[in-house]
Amino acid sequence: MKFYYAPMESITGYPLRNTHHAFFPGIDKYYTPFLSANEAGRFTGREGRDVDPANNTGINVVPQILTGNPEHFVWAVEAMEQRGYREVNFNLGCPSGTVVAKGKGSGFLRDPDRLNDFLETSFTEIEKLRLTPEISIKTRLGIQDPGEALEIIRIYNQYPISELTIHPRVQKDMYRNPVNHDAFLAMALKSKAPVVYNGDINRASDYQHIMSYLKDRGFIPEAVMLGRGLVRNPALVREINGGKRITKEEVSQYVRTLRLSYEKEIPGEKNVLFKMKENWNYLGTLFPESDRYLKEIRKAKTRAEYLSSVNVLLSNCDIACEVKK
Ligand SMILES: Cc1cc2nc3c(=O)[nH]c(=O)nc-3n(C[C@H](O)[C@H](O)[C@H](O)COP(=O)(O)O)c2cc1C
Repeated sequence: MKFYYAPMESITGYPLRNTHHAFFPGIDKYYTPFLSANEAGRFTGREGRDVDPANNTGINVVPQILTGNPEHFVWAVEAMEQRGYREVNFNLGCPSGTVVAKGKGSGFLRDPDRLNDFLETSFTEIEKLRLTPEISIKTRLGIQDPGEALEIIRIYNQYPISELTIHPRVQKDMYRNPVNHDAFLAMALKSKAPVVYNGDINRASDYQHIMSYLKDRGFIPEAVMLGRGLVRNPALVREINGGKRITKEEVSQYVRTLRLSYEKEIPGEKNVLFKMKENWNYLGTLFPESDRYLKEIRKAKTRAEYLSSVNVLLSNCDIACEVKK
């Protein structure tokens, strides 16, 4: 099975991707958090650095684009080709209110005709310009009702999409409500493009469960994409593959290297601490009974306070056999 690291805004930028790869190799593709393609005709400084080939050596990175405008999308594909990327992912899954209100991300799924026009214009132009990156899509099932997926997949099937990642929730679910395995299967079985499964794989046993559910129904995905599960347990893919559980020493080295990488990328101690606290919100689930120590990490105002609170947590807490749900 191939494993992909999901795009996660503000989390899976290049400092995390490179750190993760150095400690826990075995990810076939890392997706960038979405980059906005808009009338500005350029990426922000942060976005530009995130897809700068110099910051992404030795790992397979796929830039993800969020836009509602086919001209902007084609511009972004060309910009990624110039940087040497072989695949560009189009975001049709983001459920956030502001994105959806502008008809982007999963907001596109509300209007299948507009989605079709977008894809037709984009793919025609990409072919005309002979742009080389493959185009993959990351999608939800729909806006309100998983049944919407059947119309959406008819649209996707008209275009040469290299891979279709399906997160089996609708927009209104946000990240709540259980993932809908039946609806995933219904959409996946109709897809002409190879399908990637994504959603709620937090433990090796979740992976085994979803794989046997799909296999029993005659479907094997092309790959599995993991998001929050990997932020919580960076060694999750190793465990899925039968390898050893993450150790405290590995967590300690991982967070140290991650912090140093953020310190190079982000100016200002506070901003680096913010990133590390965000990571600890996930990593904390590795350590049962760690709430009071995590609280100290969240309260840290300086690097010294942060380092000392991390040390206290690591000296007082052990890693659980499996991460909490
Ligand atoms: C904080 C956060 C940021 C996210 N950012 C993006 C994003 O930039 N692009 C995208 O396609 N999905 C984004 N997602 C969705 C994830 O890629 C993934 O589909 C979702 O978390 C479900 O997978 P998981 O259960 O393995 O985490 C984000 C999710 C979270 C929680």
